[in-house]
Amino acid sequence: MQTLSDIRTLMADDIKHNNQCIITSLSSDVALINQISQYIIQSGGKRLRPLLVMLCARALSYKGESHHKAAAIIEFIHTATLLHDDVVDESALRRGEKTANNVFGNAASVLTGDFLYSRAFQMMVELEQMSIMKVLADATNKIAEGEVLQLLNCNNPEINEQDYMNVIYCKTAKLFEAACDISAILAKANNTEAHAIHQYGIHLGNAFQIADDVLDYTSDSQTMGKNMGDDLAEGKVTLPLIYTLNHTDKENQRLIHDAIKQGHHPKMDTIIEIVQSCGAIDYALDQAHLEAKSAAQALDAISHSAYKDALILLTKLAVKRTH
Ligand code: IPE
Ligand code: IPE
Ligand code: MG
Ligand code: MG
Repeated sequence: MQTLSDIRTLMADDIKHNNQCIITSLSSDVALINQISQYIIQSGGKRLRPLLVMLCARALSYKGESHHKAAAIIEFIHTATLLHDDVVDESALRRGEKTANNVFGNAASVLTGDFLYSRAFQMMVELEQMSIMKVLADATNKIAEGEVLQLLNCNNPEINEQDYMNVIYCKTAKLFEAACDISAILAKANNTEAHAIHQYGIHLGNAFQIADDVLDYTSDSQTMGKNMGDDLAEGKVTLPLIYTLNHTDKENQRLIHDAIKQGHHPKMDTIIEIVQSCGAIDYALDQAHLEAKSAAQALDAISHSAYKDALILLTKLAVKRTH
């Protein structure tokens, strides 16, 4: 097993059931909701989080069927956050297509995000497990906190690495953690396994978001499916920029401070070059690798299987990815 597509082959049957569940759970009596939710759900997301739920469940020897619905719930929550996030971030491109806000407008996007959130909660109730409800209620609440925290941190050049790690845990790693926790609940994992899979989720999520923040400085729109340089344009201070601020001269620091405060700075290209040439990319990737390594190490407590191998491979792919 070496690629994401190898993992998908291993999980082909589960993925088929999960996709069916996603499609049948989407319907609404309101045509515009159907149109927007179909638009975003069918637009070619990687479906990494549902894959994670199902792989963890299998790695913990789960034999039932409920993980297909649990995985769909996680993808709906993820998709709802993306609909809201693209409005907040004023993003125009996602998954290589125009964002929903770009096509249908902010109001319709936000409201359809609410629809997907609440549909996820309807599906959770159907699982009839209060402990799963608790994990997902806590996760969605924490993600909202993370997005607001990031909003407060925007345009602030004093943001440090610890502030950054806190935001990415809340806005991204928390949902990875929840995906892992609900699979442990479904599989009735023992405490040691549940703890291991929980830690795995946190570190994988952190690695995934750091890698995403690197791509924003190193990739291009075509490959990434999102616009490059969006973070700096929004005045969002991510790990590559934090490192750069601490390792460049006074003049560059002043320029970057101005850009963070202002957003959409005329010298964006110069700043991207400074970030690329001062070692910030290597540093951030090293941090992502460390998180990935911690994730893989957490799995030491889980017994060997092809599913565990796939989970370990995911830690590498989370950092190596190009989109
Ligand atoms: C995007 O997540 C949001 C982040 C946490 C960076 P993905 O990269 O998993 O998005 P899709 O679902 O594959 O488009
Ligand atoms: C990702 O936020 C986390 C959520 C959507 C909650 P970002 O703003 O960093 O991700 P992209 O770059 O838009 O995918
Ligand atoms: Mg965004
Ligand atoms: Mg955002």
